Amino acid sequence: MCGIVGYVGKKNAVEVVLKGLKKLEYRGYDSAGIALVHNNLLHIRRSVGKLCNLVENIKKTPISSNISIGHTRWATHGRPSENNAHPHTDATNSVVIVHNGIIENYAELKDQLKENLKDFKSETDTEVLAHLIKKYYKDNLFTAVKEALSKIKGSYALGVMCKDDPDTIICAKQDAPLIIGVGEKENFIASDIPALLSYTRNMIFLEDGDIAKITKDKIVIYDKNGNEQNREIKNIQWDPLLAEKAGYKHFMLKEIFEQPRTIEDTLRGRIYPNEGKIHVEEVKLSKEDIKNISNIYIVACGTSYHAGLVSKFLFENFANIPTEVDIASEFRYRNPILNEKTLVIAISQSGETADTLAALKLAKGRNCQILAVCNVVGSSISREAKHVFYTHCGIEIGVASTKAFTGQLIALYILALDFASKKESLNKEDIKRYLKELWEIPVKISKFLKNAQEVNKIAKLFDRKKDFLYLGRHINYPVALEGALKLKEISYIHAEGYAAGEMKHGPIALIDEVMPIVAIVTDSRVYSKIVSNIEEAKARGAIIIAIVSLNNKEISTKSDYVIYVPQTDEFISPLMSVIPLQLLAYYIAVNLGCDVDQPRNLAKSVTVE
Ligand code: AGP
Repeated sequence: MCGIVGYVGKKNAVEVVLKGLKKLEYRGYDSAGIALVHNNLLHIRRSVGKLCNLVENIKKTPISSNISIGHTRWATHGRPSENNAHPHTDATNSVVIVHNGIIENYAELKDQLKENLKDFKSETDTEVLAHLIKKYYKDNLFTAVKEALSKIKGSYALGVMCKDDPDTIICAKQDAPLIIGVGEKENFIASDIPALLSYTRNMIFLEDGDIAKITKDKIVIYDKNGNEQNREIKNIQWDPLLAEKAGYKHFMLKEIFEQPRTIEDTLRGRIYPNEGKIHVEEVKLSKEDIKNISNIYIVACGTSYHAGLVSKFLFENFANIPTEVDIASEFRYRNPILNEKTLVIAISQSGETADTLAALKLAKGRNCQILAVCNVVGSSISREAKHVFYTHCGIEIGVASTKAFTGQLIALYILALDFASKKESLNKEDIKRYLKELWEIPVKISKFLKNAQEVNKIAKLFDRKKDFLYLGRHINYPVALEGALKLKEISYIHAEGYAAGEMKHGPIALIDEVMPIVAIVTDSRVYSKIVSNIEEAKARGAIIIAIVSLNNKEISTKSDYVIYVPQTDEFISPLMSVIPLQLLAYYIAVNLGCDVDQPRNLAKSVTVE
């Protein structure tokens, strides 16, 4: 999830673009860059790290123009570096591009271009598009961009300029947001509203497949069928701070609602359900390597540890590989039995968690195969691991991890199914069935999120409680742990996640008419068992909030409150059952007036022991 800004008009374009990028830093900031056309030459500046480094770079040797495009990067391909920072150009420095999204077939296009690879200056997918546009450029930039995009598979929001067409920006949108800002003798493009609010409130929200030609006096938009469209100009009245959260009250809520898209982004280009195919090229483990894995250790902390606990069910049931999951701070000191046939998987959103990094280094020292599941390209853990499988969730700002958790689950489902496919431990039909289930999850989550206020109604009844018990069984026991963590870390209410089958071994003594019990009772092989647990608790006066599969009529007679989620296969159900738990924690914390995005005592990344 990167940030794009472009400007053409009477102002100093560099100033407008830099100011706009500043407003988009929440979208990612591992590097930034700007391009302008001046005297029919392209001028480009790029810097690693935060935007302020680019601003300093330009202050040292100022540049100006009336047309410019800029970019603040959240890396998905190619680690953060000046070379990989956008904008990118073709080999002759004629065409320049900024891009947000993922070009799935960039490697294939790179081969087809058959240009001398020295002409490629970066590891990014985006640079390939600059070369492709130049290939089709004769004397019309719009036509060249349209031709190039017809060869692309993937998602894009992009801005393109050419030194020989110094008054024009071409922009295009597919599965990534892009807005045109409409001014007086000036026009703008941006990934998101905040970048434009200082200059205009009149905005056009491009639709998938749109390509637009923009000059200071004119905006012409063509849809995916090549028909000119008069897209509606909307007048946006948001205040700037609200705009950074896309109208949501907190980043955490925005990130909960981003999950359908971040799951799609993590799935895209990696699974093909109809063909039953899985592509995980970035993980260079051959069929032989996978067959030789004797056991898996998963090391992580917090929410990432819970994702690891879910994945134990996947690696064992799909790929028949014995799998242990360890809290990283325990793993690193307990002298685990490891050897070169052990695969150690480190899961970390930030890629900077000290205990997880240390656990991974310990495993590396024992000659284990090392694989990281990370959300930050170029992070310490991703650099330490031999193989990295990135989640494509974009920057997660809320300290309480939400979209990163479901992104990690998706990555782990893909890996476990890939291992199962290579080991032939699952038949092709089952693999296709699970891939189809994963593909349907974004729509199912979107459908559930439409009723988010139903969860808030329940939250309002329980926001004064002092203790909660979360119960789950089998693959939803880790989700009970995650639901309890979400609640305690943002509302400061004590909450415990427990394996429901453990009730009789102690926790049942806690049951009374005061402490609510949140039970995950979605369709599964252990459904009747957890129903018995609920009945035992109910018989002792407990208040039950049950998370159940849609169309379940039985539970409402055994619970006080029921939250229905779309049905899924039991092994896929954690992706659904966690969503109401994220919302329940969020709404309770908001009702209590807590600082949801920055809870007390917590940091987004625990880089110390
Ligand atoms: C989760 O909501 C917490 N913010 C925390 O437990 C987090 O998951 C943990 O610190 C691990 O962080 P990482 O994924 O960046 O390694």
